[in-house]
Amino acid sequence: LVLILDFGSQYTHLITRRIRALSVFSLCISGTSPLSSITSLNPKVVILSGGPHSVHSDDSPSFPDGFVDWALSNGVFVLGICYGLQLIVQRLGGEVRVGQKQEYGRMEIEVVKSCGIFAGKKVGDKQVVWMSHGDEAARLPDGFEVVATSLQGAVAAVEDRKRKFYGLQYHPEVTHSPEGMETLRYFLFEVCGVNAGWKMEDVMDEEIKVINSTLAPDDHVICALSGGVDSTVAATLVHKAIGDRLHCVFVDNGLLRYKERERVMETFESDLHLPVTCVDASDQFLSKLKGVVDPEMKRKIIGKEFICIFDAFAQELEQKLGKKPAFLVQGTLYPDVIESCPPPGSGRTHSHTIKSHHNVGGLPKDMKLKLIEPLKLLFKDEVRQLGKILKVPEPFLKRHPFPGPGLAVRVLGDVTEGNALDIVRQVDEIFIQSIKDAGIYDSIWQAFAVFLPVKSVGVQGDQRTHSYVVTLRAVTSQDGMTADWYCFESSFLKDVSQKICNNVRGVNRVTLDITSKPPSTIEWE
Ligand code: XMP
Repeated sequence: LVLILDFGSQYTHLITRRIRALSVFSLCISGTSPLSSITSLNPKVVILSGGPHSVHSDDSPSFPDGFVDWALSNGVFVLGICYGLQLIVQRLGGEVRVGQKQEYGRMEIEVVKSCGIFAGKKVGDKQVVWMSHGDEAARLPDGFEVVATSLQGAVAAVEDRKRKFYGLQYHPEVTHSPEGMETLRYFLFEVCGVNAGWKMEDVMDEEIKVINSTLAPDDHVICALSGGVDSTVAATLVHKAIGDRLHCVFVDNGLLRYKERERVMETFESDLHLPVTCVDASDQFLSKLKGVVDPEMKRKIIGKEFICIFDAFAQELEQKLGKKPAFLVQGTLYPDVIESCPPPGSGRTHSHTIKSHHNVGGLPKDMKLKLIEPLKLLFKDEVRQLGKILKVPEPFLKRHPFPGPGLAVRVLGDVTEGNALDIVRQVDEIFIQSIKDAGIYDSIWQAFAVFLPVKSVGVQGDQRTHSYVVTLRAVTSQDGMTADWYCFESSFLKDVSQKICNNVRGVNRVTLDITSKPPSTIEWE
């Protein structure tokens, strides 16, 4: 295991991912975790991440007391990256000072000693790296030596081979350090002697074992399927482990996209052979939403209805099985787990407050279900890999995210007003189909249409019209937390606008949303 101690860098997750991409299992925990949390994981290598602090500031996070002694007495390799290097220097008796010249962005470094982490390089070899630091190592602790410097003369890499402590002042984990991945590979395999061998197939087998040892042979499990990647992969995995003791429910809340229910149910049944109960609750949802225009109110109503349906589903199952379902499957991913415990002072906020409104609306308290979260150690792209092994159809794995409250947050105002839902469905279908036809679906994080409760004047077939305005939104993003608007070719936009006005009755104006997040959010409500 390679353990990453997170000191708040925006790149920490990347380190974990890069190492996993080398087929080595890596985990990330808060850099200020107690020593026992670190030692209990028994890592062969510990990487100290970068972070936004100066080691001199009062609230600067650091590894726990006893860490260095533990690493030394257990022969653990330690690599500090950026702030991590400065922590090593400071805590082992060296000195860190404000840099003479601050180094931000693309820089060149030169190898000054061909050993350790750069044993595969020659003295004088140069490489471009990504730097982002204000402080620098001024005096190294005893036993350390400089193995690379920046062209400005600052320390770029240090090591104490005897004690197995290493440090890089730059970020090898970002793609702006083109040789960074090779440096990490060399460090792990050649310097630390780590074995590659972590495969998604093993993750699957391990998770199946865990599920089977957690559940009693007559325990039943429920899962709310949204049609999204995470819940589908989680359910498919659990189904592989326990078969038809898994009971899934898919709720049609009347706020789904064009033919979504049919498409999703067909995938579940024909391709995945998942036992799914489809509950048609559109009337129930839409009658509760009638006249409601406040976005938060809409969300609350939808969340509450989901809970009612879920509760009824669990009760039905209890009557049928003579036993309450004991567990609930959730598609929680690793970033949610890490983000829920950011290191103090890292400036990162708990994403849980954002995410909690993102799941299907919570669960009735008295259901007392225990959780099965088989994806909680995986990143989104790893979930897709796992889905592929589980034979979840590729187009399904690549689907854009769709929010729990569905089209309710894409029809501004009252969703039951006129044929707003129908309009947004048709426009969305044309837009998405055109994106697929243009071969750009996979380059976009999310694309959709929004219905605006606004009418404008137009002229269609020599007739004056007074019809609705729709807007198109497409964004690129890594994780949905920030996003940039996608820049379509003008010919694409011309085509799609024409198709929409020619085919969707009630629309005479198409607009494009060209705002990033922030300041906007991805969804309109
Ligand atoms: P925003 O609009 O907050 O969206 O920039 C970020 C990402 O989250 C999705 N989203 C939701 N997902 N329930 C969900 O399951 C919600 O209430 C919700 N609101 C936003 C959004 O589609 C985007 O991918």
